[in-house]
Amino acid sequence: MTERRVLLIVGGGIAAYKALELTRLLRKAGVGVRPILTASGAQFVTPLSLSALAEDKVYQELFSLTDEAEMGHIELSRSADLVVVAPATADLMAKAANGLAGDLASTTLLATDKPVLMAPAMNVRMWEHAATRRNLATLKADGVSFVGPDEGAMACGEFGFGRMAEPHVIFQAIMTLLSDGPQISRPLTGKHVLVTAGPTAEALDPVRVLTNRSSGKQGFEIAGALARLGARVTLVAGPVSQPTPAGVTRVDVESARDMLAACQSALPADAAICVAAVADWRPDEAFGIKLKKGKDGPPAITLVENPDILATLAAHTPQRPTLVVGFAAETNDVEKHALAKLTRKGCDWIVANDVTQPGVMGGTENAVMIVSRAGVERWDRAGKDEVAMKIADRVAKDLA
Ligand code: CTP
Repeated sequence: MTERRVLLIVGGGIAAYKALELTRLLRKAGVGVRPILTASGAQFVTPLSLSALAEDKVYQELFSLTDEAEMGHIELSRSADLVVVAPATADLMAKAANGLAGDLASTTLLATDKPVLMAPAMNVRMWEHAATRRNLATLKADGVSFVGPDEGAMACGEFGFGRMAEPHVIFQAIMTLLSDGPQISRPLTGKHVLVTAGPTAEALDPVRVLTNRSSGKQGFEIAGALARLGARVTLVAGPVSQPTPAGVTRVDVESARDMLAACQSALPADAAICVAAVADWRPDEAFGIKLKKGKDGPPAITLVENPDILATLAAHTPQRPTLVVGFAAETNDVEKHALAKLTRKGCDWIVANDVTQPGVMGGTENAVMIVSRAGVERWDRAGKDEVAMKIADRVAKDLA
């Protein structure tokens, strides 16, 4: 396979440090990285760090005699399969939207004939400013792709949208865009995969819900990894603040019953991967108006069982997906419980994990075993992004 190449423009924001991890992930996946570091980017990371991780020279100056002699800026702008801007600051977005070309980064963005992916990073007020909204709309209309930004706490102490997407999420978006090329195999092309993710929220009254702590992270990673392998992915998500992975169609729902309805209307599918932490029960009555404190004391809440989405999808109906996968979060006797669940739910394999392990629940890592009728496979502990990639590969093998 020919090496795929990314031209990585690192703008000036505190998120520039994440560009180093992004570079590492890309190199590890065999993707070539040629960095361009803006003058303000160099206030946050050094050319040496970028160069060492990219294993390439770092380009910084538009008017550099040596750089121009070795590789002119026009040639540089065409030297990759994809141009990635991470962090894409408000300034870089404004320059690109208006076709300014006063430095190497903006000139490259104007001169390139390659697809461009931006990972914005800025203060929430800057992100929400009318000027940035206009620039975003212009860039999207010009065909630029975006990943993030996320919502969260920022280095400046504020909270909101503007935090750059995590490196592995940008990495996945890059791999999706790169795999549109002919060299990378996309074994799930033509397949439709349904993924459920996140918690459900079961209404008690218009302001109160019963829910759980699921972050949705693993399910979103799996949806992104499946899309990267070419699948058409429908992601039915409970209330979470995860960014939608590139190339994935997301349907937001709240309750288990809504989730089931959304899954059923997404059928037919070749595979269903049920990662959601569906609430087992809901209040038997959702009050139409807010419950008030009163002399009668706290209300008694009666719970009724929710439909089992996994079991419903796995039932032998004409619309049963060829492959149905369930998840099992266990605290003890993981293998035994997973095997019992496999039979009870009628699915094809169960991805089981021990949630008592530190860093798994709500964290970024997972240690799973795959339990099927063929036996048990134990996978080494790895990042949730890596686990997602392995699961997507296994889905592709099963559907082949
Ligand atoms: N699941 C589902 N619908 C439900 C409950 C669970 O689709 N109402 C799916 C989950 O997405 C997951 C699998 O079933 O893939 C396992 O969920 P879990 O809650 O662990 O299973 P339970 O049958 O509730 O077993 P337990 O007794 O361990 O709670």
